[in-house]
Amino acid sequence: MAKRRDRRLVQSSDRREPRGDPSTQVDQFSESAASDRKLIAIFILFFIVIPAVSVLVYRIKYAPNTYGTESHARQDGRVKTDLKYEEILSENSKVSKNASHRQYTYPVLAYITPWNSKGYEMAKRFTNKFTHLSPVWYDLRSQGTELILEGRHNADRGWISELRMKGGALVLPRVVLEAFPSEMLRKKKLRDKAIELVVSECKEMEYDGIVLESWSRWAAYGILSDPDMRNKALKFIKQLGHAIHSVSSSRSSKQPLQLVYVIGPPHSEKLQVHDFGPEDLQSLNDAVDGFSLMTYDFSSPHNPGPNAPLKWIHFTLQLLLGTTGNARTLAHKVFLGINFYGNDFLLSEGSGGGAIIGRDYLSLLEKHKPFLRWEENSAEHFFLYFDDENKKHAVFYPSLMSISLRLEEARSWGTGISIWEIGQGLDYFFDLL
Ligand SMILES: *[C@@H]1O[C@H](CO)[C@@H](O)[C@H](O)[C@H]1NC(C)=O
Repeated sequence: MAKRRDRRLVQSSDRREPRGDPSTQVDQFSESAASDRKLIAIFILFFIVIPAVSVLVYRIKYAPNTYGTESHARQDGRVKTDLKYEEILSENSKVSKNASHRQYTYPVLAYITPWNSKGYEMAKRFTNKFTHLSPVWYDLRSQGTELILEGRHNADRGWISELRMKGGALVLPRVVLEAFPSEMLRKKKLRDKAIELVVSECKEMEYDGIVLESWSRWAAYGILSDPDMRNKALKFIKQLGHAIHSVSSSRSSKQPLQLVYVIGPPHSEKLQVHDFGPEDLQSLNDAVDGFSLMTYDFSSPHNPGPNAPLKWIHFTLQLLLGTTGNARTLAHKVFLGINFYGNDFLLSEGSGGGAIIGRDYLSLLEKHKPFLRWEENSAEHFFLYFDDENKKHAVFYPSLMSISLRLEEARSWGTGISIWEIGQGLDYFFDLL
């Protein structure tokens, strides 16, 4: 019994709030421990009833009007851990009739890449499920001593106007800052130029702002370990944010353009100087409208495993939002990253393999008819198979269940979500949004 109680305590301190049905928890508990009623009564009161009641009160008071648990997919029993490959093959293209109905009422940012054109189609089909759409179109690079913004050739104005006729999602193309950072951050002329290039592209193309990715590049160049350069980097983002905010949207003169900034999860349990931490979040709060948090790619071919273990996601959010007092109030600005792609890793004879998308996954299911397993620790589905050369593979790809649990994690913190990327998923994933 003691063991059981310990486990429960660990579980409940591990989670922000009990998400299971509190009444079944009570039932299970009292059933197993009939011998020590007094202790149990106290235990139940303090650890189950009081938290359950406060959660209930909290939910009634603050809850949005819909919950993932009521989604179409869940109603017809598709969201589950004991999943069979046949079910995925027969169900994946069946989606709810109403493509506008939102299950997830927090902000939803979806990335679209030119190399997976299905994403453009999904953005149109499910426009009203998204608040922000980010086509991956631009690079800001050094050319000699100058800077150039490359990517206009990717931009698709026809697609944008179709989206705008259908719904209100903001279109914020992603810009990667590839320019040599030590030059750019040191010279005012180059910083001003970078900002001018971005702002004038937004005006000319009538974008609603941009999603900027630079932190990972700056970390790769090693400039973030120098405190002076790190400060200059933060200052540049602030300057860009204020310049972007000074322009109003072409659609509504009251609405300023937006800056969403891409951030990565910390590299280890303790924050390193090049990691983006809670103080950075705080410091950029005024200049940045949202933070797109890349909580995926936990594993790699050299270290095969789940793409984004739920506990790691929780830990990352705890580190960013849970430490300082009012950082918690920044949660609504965070877009928690969810992958719609998976990985097919080679397990035998060295390492190898890599990312797969929905159609690759479906053909693997058809060919190998695998037994799907649910990995409790990471909260992800996976399967093993042997290829034609008898080499062993492990395939991790999102399922309705794995996505639902991540949506619930995001909901419990009050964050939005970001999806990388909507051309890579299965159609029925969109029912959960
Ligand atoms: C679809 O969902 C939207 C948003 O929830 C709702 O306003 C609309 O009435 C629904 N349409 C149908 C046909 O049910």
